Amino acid sequence: MDTPKKEERGKLGRRDFLQGVATVPVIGLFGYALAKERQYVKAQKEIKLGTTEVTEEGEELNVALLGAGAQGSVLLNAMLQIPGLRFRAVCDIWADYNLKRAVNLLSKYKFEVNGYEDYREMLDKEKELDAVVIATPDFWHSRHAVDCLNAGLNVYCEKEMSNTLEGAAEMVKGARQTGKLLQIGHQRRSHPRYIHCYEKIIKEAGLLGRIVTVNGQWNRSVQEDLGWPARYAIDTDTLKKYGYDSMQQFSNWRWYKGLGGGPIVDLGSHQIDIYNWFLQARPRAVIASGGTDYFSPEAHEWYDTVMAIYEYETPEGVARAYYQTQTTNGSLGYFENFMGDQGTLVISESEAGGTAGSIYRQPNAPDWDEWVRKGYVTAPKIQMMKKELDISNRLDVRESVSPDEHQIPIEFYDPYHKPHLQNFFNAIRGREALNCPAEIGYETAVSVLKVNEAIAAQRRLTFDPAEFEI
Ligand SMILES: NC(=O)c1ccc[n+]([C@@H]2O[C@H](COP(=O)([O-])OP(=O)(O)OC[C@H]3O[C@@H](n4cnc5c(N)ncnc54)[C@H](O)[C@@H]3O)[C@@H](O)[C@H]2O)c1
Repeated sequence: MDTPKKEERGKLGRRDFLQGVATVPVIGLFGYALAKERQYVKAQKEIKLGTTEVTEEGEELNVALLGAGAQGSVLLNAMLQIPGLRFRAVCDIWADYNLKRAVNLLSKYKFEVNGYEDYREMLDKEKELDAVVIATPDFWHSRHAVDCLNAGLNVYCEKEMSNTLEGAAEMVKGARQTGKLLQIGHQRRSHPRYIHCYEKIIKEAGLLGRIVTVNGQWNRSVQEDLGWPARYAIDTDTLKKYGYDSMQQFSNWRWYKGLGGGPIVDLGSHQIDIYNWFLQARPRAVIASGGTDYFSPEAHEWYDTVMAIYEYETPEGVARAYYQTQTTNGSLGYFENFMGDQGTLVISESEAGGTAGSIYRQPNAPDWDEWVRKGYVTAPKIQMMKKELDISNRLDVRESVSPDEHQIPIEFYDPYHKPHLQNFFNAIRGREALNCPAEIGYETAVSVLKVNEAIAAQRRLTFDPAEFEI
C-alpha cells in the first residue's frame, strides 16, 4: 500500500517534463523525458518472468508466501523476476480471494503450489521449504516469523517488524536461537541509489559535511477506507479466529490499535530507518504531536496526522530530524532531506515526484569537480541543461535552477523491492550478508514506535541506549 504502482514509475519522464515546461524550452526536456521512458520500457521488456534458471548447481530455493494481499502481490511480482526460486506454497486466510489469486498466478508460470489457510498446516506439510516471505498485517509478524524460524526456514518479513517491541524482540531472539536468516522489509537498505548515497557520497566523499538537520515526509491525499467484494466477505467466525472483529477492520487493519500502528509506523518506519542509517546513530529523544484530526476516530484509531522531531547524538555532534506524515494532502509526496554544512541531499524511493536524488553544494564547500569526474554526482544541472538544450545564449535560468544542483547518477528500473529480496536469497546461498537483519529492524521499531508513545504522553521522551539492545 505504501509503494507506488509500477505504472507510476513509467510517468517519471512526463512529470519531470511538465515541471520543467514553465522555465525551459520544450524540445530538450521532451528528448530527455522520452529517453527515460524508452529506457524504462526496454528494461521491462527484458524481464523474463517466472524463470527458475540458476547459474550454479544446487542454488534453487523453495519458497512460500505467507500473506498474499496487496504487498504479498507486489513481492510476488518482484520475485517472479528473480531466477532460481521455486514457489511451493501460499498461505492466506482469505481463501476464496487473495489465496486463490496468488495460487492461480503462480500456476500460470507452471509452479505447482499448494494453498493453505492456516500457516501451521503449511509448516506441518511443506517439508522442503528453504524460505518464507511474510506479508501479513503487522500484529501477525512476530508469531508467523518465530514459528517459521523454528520450523527451520529463512524468513523475509515485511516491516513494521512488529506492532509491539515485545513481538519484535521475540523475532530477534528467534533468529539468533535458530541460526536462520531474518530479513526485515525496509527495502531502501538494498536500493542502489540509497547505497550509493550512503557509501559514496556521505561516507567516502563526505559531500554533506556534518549533517546538522534532517527533514522528511510522507504526505498523502485523502483516501477512502478499503472495501471488499461483498460475495467474498470472510465469515465472522474465521475473522475472529484470526484476530479481526469485522471485514472493515480486516481490510483496514493499519488504522486499528493492536493490529497496526497508523501512518507513522506504516510509512514513517521506512524513512526513519534511513535517518538512523545515514546518521549512523540511534535517536536519544523524540517529541511529537499528532491526532486523528480528520477521519473518524472510530474507524481510524491511530493518528492520521503526525509531526515528530528526533534528537540524535551523531559521531560529529547533535543532529535534529523532523518527520511528518499526514493523510489529507499529498503535497510533495515522500522524500528524505539531509542538510549538512557542506551540502544537501534530497532523496526518495519514489521515481515519480522529482525528488529521487539531488544534491546541492553549499557556497562555502570546496568544489566537487573530483566527484563529478569520478561519477559520484553529475555535473551541475545548469551545465547539463545548457548542453542538452543549447540554451546558453538564449535563456537565463538562474532564477529557476540552483547553480549548485547535481543529480545522483543512479538509474533504477527494477521493482522497488527486488534488490532487497535478491539480497535475502543471496544471503541464504551464502553469497551476501543481509542488508536489514533483525537487529536493524529492531532498532528502527524502537525508534518509530516511541513516536506514538510521545504523542500520547504529550511530552519529550528519551531513549535509554539499552532499549536498542536485545
Ligand atoms: N515494504 C513496503 O514497501 C510495504 C508496502 C506495503 C505493505 N507493507 C507491509 O506488508 C504487510 C501486508 O500489508 P498489505 O498492504 O499487503 O495488507 P493487506 O491487508 O492487503 O494484506 C494482508 C494479507 O494477509 C492475509 N492475512 C491476514 N491475517 C493472516 C493470517 N493470520 N494468516 C495468513 N494470512 C493472513 C490477508 O488475508 C491479506 O491477504 C504489512 O506488514 C505492511 O506493513 C510493506
